[in-house]
Amino acid sequence: MALNVVIMAAGKGTRMKSAQPKVLHRLAGTTLLQHVLAAAAPLAAGRTVIVTGHGADAVEASVAGSGALCVRQQPQLGTGHAVQQAVPALDGAGETTLVLNGDVPLIRTETAAALVAACGGTRLALLTVELADPGGYGRIVREGDAVRAIVEHKDASAAQRALREVYTGIMAAPTRLLAGWVMALNNDNAQREYYLTDIVAMAVAEGVPVVASRAADETEVLGVNSPAQLAELERRLQRARAEALMEAGVRLADPARFDLRGTLECGSDVEIDVNCIFEGDVQLADGARIGAHCVIRDARIGAGAVIHPFTHIEGAVVGPGALVGPYARLRPGAELGRDVHIGNFVEVKNSRLAAGAKANHLAYLGDATVGERVNYGAGSITANYDGANKHRTVIGADAHIGSNCVLVAPVTIGAGATIGGGSTVCRDAPAGQLTLARARQVTLEGWQRPKKPAKKG
Ligand code: UD1
Ligand code: CA
Repeated sequence: MALNVVIMAAGKGTRMKSAQPKVLHRLAGTTLLQHVLAAAAPLAAGRTVIVTGHGADAVEASVAGSGALCVRQQPQLGTGHAVQQAVPALDGAGETTLVLNGDVPLIRTETAAALVAACGGTRLALLTVELADPGGYGRIVREGDAVRAIVEHKDASAAQRALREVYTGIMAAPTRLLAGWVMALNNDNAQREYYLTDIVAMAVAEGVPVVASRAADETEVLGVNSPAQLAELERRLQRARAEALMEAGVRLADPARFDLRGTLECGSDVEIDVNCIFEGDVQLADGARIGAHCVIRDARIGAGAVIHPFTHIEGAVVGPGALVGPYARLRPGAELGRDVHIGNFVEVKNSRLAAGAKANHLAYLGDATVGERVNYGAGSITANYDGANKHRTVIGADAHIGSNCVLVAPVTIGAGATIGGGSTVCRDAPAGQLTLARARQVTLEGWQRPKKPAKKG
């Protein structure tokens, strides 16, 4: 059955007290609106309409390429008024229209699909939930079992405010009836807004069946209206992700101090210490161990590799058995082979290090190709940028680069070469030999230190 989806995303989000539109705030690194779109995507709606208004340019740019159609609501006169704007864009052949709140991000596809089925193109289906603290939400008013109306918190009587069953902001309605109802709304209420929720009483008055299903899990229907609610939802989402990983055998030192802002694939016997952040797509192979306070984005960490604390990794590949950190930085294009060692305060960018290469202290490798078992001394750098262009440094297998060397690219160090500490190497260094490129050490006979003048009286 063809389906329409409407996502309301025009509101300002006053309670966020932010210059940014509310639906562009991020949960686990993804905008609230993207979460809602992702949940709706598998429903394969014939048409998805996003109602934009506050910060419309930014909101629309954020969903460009999603296939959804954006319609503008100017000014924003309430959720009913928002759906009014969407009506002309709805596909008449779609008998059911699912309405989603842009600020209820964790709705699950299965829950939305069940609501669509409950509507079946003929009934008004509401998703509700029982909350211990229903403050701020629209209350579900029932007579016996039958739903009579939704009363907004600000319009509710004391008795109604005691009701704990609330509307989640998610409903499925027969498209044709919805269109008629939203056109008939008025704004005769505490907020002088056109409330979408008023269509429930209209349906009841017309004898259209209203069905309310209670969401089993409150996390999926919590709304984000304030920074505190955003943080609360973030924690719940992270907790759920942490539990799923632990269920799969990943050993998290503390599930309350774990953040996944993308996807994380783990092999067996993976250990993750506290306060690590994973972003983009990260893979940790069997037995990988991640120390405390690491930030890892778009990376593959090989089997048995150890990432020591306070390491930052982005767009990199770490080979099996490699040791990285503490305090190391792997930037995009860093590729470390098997058993490579990268120590503290070492930065690697767009460089490939073959098996067993080591750079253990205070060094920079940029645009370099480093052979097997190379030892790269403390304080050495590749001078890869001449102010206009980047150039490559090639270091052959088993070369030994002393401390505090500057390798001025483009330059090649032959296999097995040794570069004396403190050298500034501007020309290729031959294989197997010692190359020095620094001032020769001299000692001046009879030299004396200047003396301080003798103090007077
Ligand atoms: C709404 C419901 C309330 C429900 C709650 C669940 C109404 C009148 N109330 O209240 O019953 O318990 O959601 O989270 O529907 N929006 C627009 N245009 C507008 C106003 C809002 O697009 O003119 C959008 C917002 O961007 C937001 C969503 O609609 O994504 C909900 O608006 P919000 O003002 O947060 O409604 P609530 O007061 O939370
Ligand atoms: Ca809300």
